Amino acid sequence: MSEKDILREKILRLKEKINAIILAHNYQREEVQEIADYAGDSLELSRTAASIKCDVIVFCGVNFMAESASILSPEKTVILPEISACCPMADMITVSGPRRLKTQFPGYHYTGGYRYSSDFTLKDIKALHPGAPVVAYVNTTAEVKAESDICCTSANGVKIVESLDSDKVICIPDRNLSAWIAKNTKKEVIAWDGFCHVHDRVTPDDVLRARTEHPNAVLIAHPECRIEICEMADHVTSTSGMVRFAKASEAKEFVIGTETGLLYKLRKDNPDKTFYPLRKDMVCPNMKKTTLSSVFHAMETMTYKIKVPEEIRVPAKRALDRMLAVK
Ligand code: 13P
Ligand code: SF4
Repeated sequence: MSEKDILREKILRLKEKINAIILAHNYQREEVQEIADYAGDSLELSRTAASIKCDVIVFCGVNFMAESASILSPEKTVILPEISACCPMADMITVSGPRRLKTQFPGYHYTGGYRYSSDFTLKDIKALHPGAPVVAYVNTTAEVKAESDICCTSANGVKIVESLDSDKVICIPDRNLSAWIAKNTKKEVIAWDGFCHVHDRVTPDDVLRARTEHPNAVLIAHPECRIEICEMADHVTSTSGMVRFAKASEAKEFVIGTETGLLYKLRKDNPDKTFYPLRKDMVCPNMKKTTLSSVFHAMETMTYKIKVPEEIRVPAKRALDRMLAVK
């Protein structure tokens, strides 16, 4: 028996003992996706966390995901195996204090609306657009969700914005998802200037190169990619949307414009099809922090427990529940 097999057996035994369910995001390491009870995109994982019956949720992902699980299911113990697994984009906006992450935003041309960044806070942008509902991407802190009207994910952003009874909406924090939403709605979108460093690095040259190298491949992009990349792609969708699309498609080759962790599931589900990453360096270091040993250690020691204070959890849950109610 290999060391990994021994670890896997130990995890399975512990899981039963503490009545735990392991959730993993589609970007997690292969070994972690394999041991998970459910692997999926942010929307699927939120729905699962809200409805699953268990005492403990071991969330293999980044901190805002575990926070959302705890917001939706406060009666359960939610464990994040790697406490430093964070999403830099989620830290690009705060409610009122200084930003946690002092990223320098590179110059970026955006024509779909206004963009705010640097010393602006969510409170500032709300004051500038009174009455405009705030749509928070789930990649935000619990505090930011608590100050927002509704959440969205990459799978339902356009649908959520369309569901709102307002001609103007504030979309935070991803400028690229906001631009994609703006392109697909008639509503005015006020966008924040945040971005995912993994997706934002893709350039039109990468797309042209992939098209030359794989002329028969269908190119799928995640809406966290820049708008010019989404416009060049054959299809734009969330990670699980990519899995469904590739399965249903008659094409045999695909270029995948998202974090490379998704290739594991795509290849496993479609052994007769070939998948190429749009860029080999589309790797989220935070998503890769969790390993089989960290999952085992987390379950053995029940660390790290993620709990959101009630005064933040209740309004944050309202925003998540509103999103989950949109069919
Ligand atoms: P989805 O899996 O919801 O498409 O999310 C992408 C992402 O970057 C999560 O951090
Ligand atoms: Fe955040 Fe991007 Fe990593 Fe997703 S892939 S967790 S958006 S940094």
